[in-house]
Amino acid sequence: MKYQFEHHFLVCTGARCNREDRGEERGEKIQETLKDLNRELGRKATVRVCKVSCLDLCDHGPNMIHYPTGEVYSHLDRDSARRAYGGEMGDGPVAEDKKLELQDEGQRSEVKAGQRP
Ligand code: FES
Repeated sequence: MKYQFEHHFLVCTGARCNREDRGEERGEKIQETLKDLNRELGRKATVRVCKVSCLDLCDHGPNMIHYPTGEVYSHLDRDSARRAYGGEMGDGPVAEDKKLELQDEGQRSEVKAGQRP
């Protein structure tokens, strides 16, 4: 059997990405927003928008990873998450401003200078 999903968006809803003080822009709300968008666009059969408990990138949250590209998007809110989703799905321009560039070493190092929003 071939696994049916072609894309995964893993949205962190861990404690730090989902802090209450982020209000409507926390991980849980971002995941719900993208899940709704995905359904509205009729992609539910081939695209999954999943919750994950932590991506070990807490300092940069709210975070999301797209597969199969492995691209990490950070410092997200609902609007920029929609843009990141749209860019990966070919609906619009790639959200370059939200990509997290990690150094090779263990992928837990600092972002490049000047990348913080
Ligand atoms: S809580 Fe989101 S990356 Fe750790």
